[in-house]
Amino acid sequence: MSLARSPSTFVGRRHELEAARRALGESRLVTLTGPGGVGKTRVAVESAEHAGRAFADGVWFVPLADVDAGAGLDTVAAVVLRVLTKSDQASRGTWERLLELVADRRLLLVVDNCEHLLTVTAQLCSDLLREAPNLRILATSREALQVAGEQVLHVPPLSVPDVQRAYSPRDLETFDAVVLLRDRARQIDPGFAITPENAAAVGRLCIQLDGLPLAIELAATRLRSLTPAQMVERLADRFTLLSAGDRTAAPRQRSLRAVIDWSHDLCAPSTRLLWNRLAVFPGSFDVDAAEKVCGFGALDRAEVFDAIDRLVSQSILLTQRDVGVIRYRLLAAVREYALEKLTDSGEYPELRRRHRDFVLAEAAEVFHGRVTASHTSHADVITALHWSTSTQGEAKSGLELAVLLGWHWVAEGHLDEGRRWLEILLEEGATDAAERANAIWAVIWVALIQNDRDGAWRHLEELERLAETLAGPRPRNHLDHWTGLYHAFSDEPGRGVASLERAVRGHAQADDGAHECIALFQLAFALLCDDQLTRALEVAEQALEASTALHLWRSRDWARWIAGVTRWRLGDLDTAERDVRTLLITQRRSRDFLCAAASTALLGWIAASRGDEARAAELQALSDAVFEDIGTSLAFFGPRIVRFAGHRADDRTATDRAARIRDADELVDRALGPASTPTPTAGPLTSREEEVARLIAQGLSNKAVAERLVISRRTAEGHVERIIRKLGVTSRAGVASWVVGRDT
Ligand SMILES: Nc1ncnc2c1ncn2[C@@H]1O[C@H](COP(=O)(O)OP(=O)(O)O)[C@@H](O)[C@H]1O
Ligand SMILES: [Mg+2]
Repeated sequence: MSLARSPSTFVGRRHELEAARRALGESRLVTLTGPGGVGKTRVAVESAEHAGRAFADGVWFVPLADVDAGAGLDTVAAVVLRVLTKSDQASRGTWERLLELVADRRLLLVVDNCEHLLTVTAQLCSDLLREAPNLRILATSREALQVAGEQVLHVPPLSVPDVQRAYSPRDLETFDAVVLLRDRARQIDPGFAITPENAAAVGRLCIQLDGLPLAIELAATRLRSLTPAQMVERLADRFTLLSAGDRTAAPRQRSLRAVIDWSHDLCAPSTRLLWNRLAVFPGSFDVDAAEKVCGFGALDRAEVFDAIDRLVSQSILLTQRDVGVIRYRLLAAVREYALEKLTDSGEYPELRRRHRDFVLAEAAEVFHGRVTASHTSHADVITALHWSTSTQGEAKSGLELAVLLGWHWVAEGHLDEGRRWLEILLEEGATDAAERANAIWAVIWVALIQNDRDGAWRHLEELERLAETLAGPRPRNHLDHWTGLYHAFSDEPGRGVASLERAVRGHAQADDGAHECIALFQLAFALLCDDQLTRALEVAEQALEASTALHLWRSRDWARWIAGVTRWRLGDLDTAERDVRTLLITQRRSRDFLCAAASTALLGWIAASRGDEARAAELQALSDAVFEDIGTSLAFFGPRIVRFAGHRADDRTATDRAARIRDADELVDRALGPASTPTPTAGPLTSREEEVARLIAQGLSNKAVAERLVISRRTAEGHVERIIRKLGVTSRAGVASWVVGRDT
């Protein structure tokens, strides 16, 4: 993940930014410390943004807030690896891969929210810094990491006025706390101003809130219905209440606690209940997830959205836009508070179960093609699996979940993590033969994609033994299916063809469309490797049709890829190229890194057939790098593909150059090449921006622009922001009149 800049205004901190800049020049580990809500993360993100240019290999944001407090070094290393690549683990081990990645790079890692993982992050940082001479780390934590060479910068609260003095409104606005309060109040009430009448109360309020940004943001939302003077009075009552209860807490924590408590008390009971329950989500969530997991008992499902809306308006929930949906999250300090309430209420275990059941139901919907996109995040998945293994009697459902997540592991760069969960849960959750037989295929799949043929074979042997003893067709279908893939990836693909043909028939008879489509495209692949090209194309087309009808997008994409490779083998370069380009464009949305890497490789083979050696080498390097990032290599497809492709042993420098891909969009842009990336034109805008600007002038929304150009909503928004900046206008309307003015 690259830096996640907050869309809200940034106030003050000139001194802190300068100090951080200097410290990063002197020390390789700088830790920003301070209490929750003081603004450590904001300062870190802004500093990193400023430092960007100094780091040739980029600035990477590693958020640890979602990671469980009990996590070990491996888990945290996996999070870092995931940020730097697209995968959690590489087959050769997280550490090795991570060290190799950072070894010679000029990187800045921003490791955010270390406080609940102090020992582990300290270890991680000191090991990484020892191995990577050009690496620098900017950490945020309530306490210092205590690592040799660490430079600690304490982040103070924002400046507040002096309680003894009276200020004019203008003088008051020289204090950062006041500016923040004013800015946030204006978001709610654009007419809010500091006047001679309210100046004293505003100053007082900022003092009461200790200049703590989070407390100020929460309190500002109340200025809709209370004057600053009323707020001061009510807060004073709160402090008395609170300090009577707890004399030990530091004053600063007390003021934040008071504001959070106050917001909590002011909520309607249903909103308050939702706030507590939302703490069950480890990271961000959308409205659907919140409704299904938290809408029960005293909180009706139909009330959830309204309650979310209220929490957003009080800044308890932050929003972030994803492709096509809005997701929400609780700031760390607010989630901590909610978790406490949730635990006290005794509802926590029930919510964990509901969360796991939701993740399980979603995984089933996605696997069977009943929905196009999942409402869950990777953090949800991992939390649900953790709960299933650590709760008595839940391992069986946990195994079911891990199996249904097959595509998640394979396509989204979680090969090792998936393999680990599947093996743990097979151990704990599959108590009888039938359960094992229904689950074991998923491990075989992951192992084959990891290019671990021996591991796959061991599990296949067990599946064979199970299939012999069990009644019913399913174990036999799985055995035919995955033995078939094993052979398709070998030098005897003919055996794979026979086996996969049986599997396709078996799954069809069992009315198991999802498995049937997977077996079908894999059959096309086996035929391709066996040089039965005409049949391969027929079966690939059949797989394409069947998987489209069933909304099984990942199977559909692979069917397309195989059709493309077959056409290339048949010498139909133009059709092959057109198909694979379409496929790559769909990868912007579906984010199947494995398929995107394979598609990039295919584009390279086509370039080689056209005699364009330079482009071929570039594309090979790019796809090799992505395969490596997700923990495998092209070799998993087996010797036939490697031979057809004339795949050269990897060219290290080219791979290194390629290995800085941040997301699917970037991979797709680079694979598609100069034809689709922006080229400079005579005007201030690149040709792509020019295109976007014209669409805006035609009145299209960002969403419509994204759809028209087949790019993600985020990419479209990025273009629009850049255009606005370049043209020096302030809005989309400004862009439209620029286009119209120039063209007439
Ligand atoms: N200088 C600032 N300008 C504007 N908003 C700020 C500033 N510092 C912090 N905030 C806001 O205050 C809240 C808490 O800040 P955050 O950086 O998350 O605190 P911490 O990491 O110390 O817990 C966030 O919503 C953040 O955007
Ligand atoms: Mg933080």
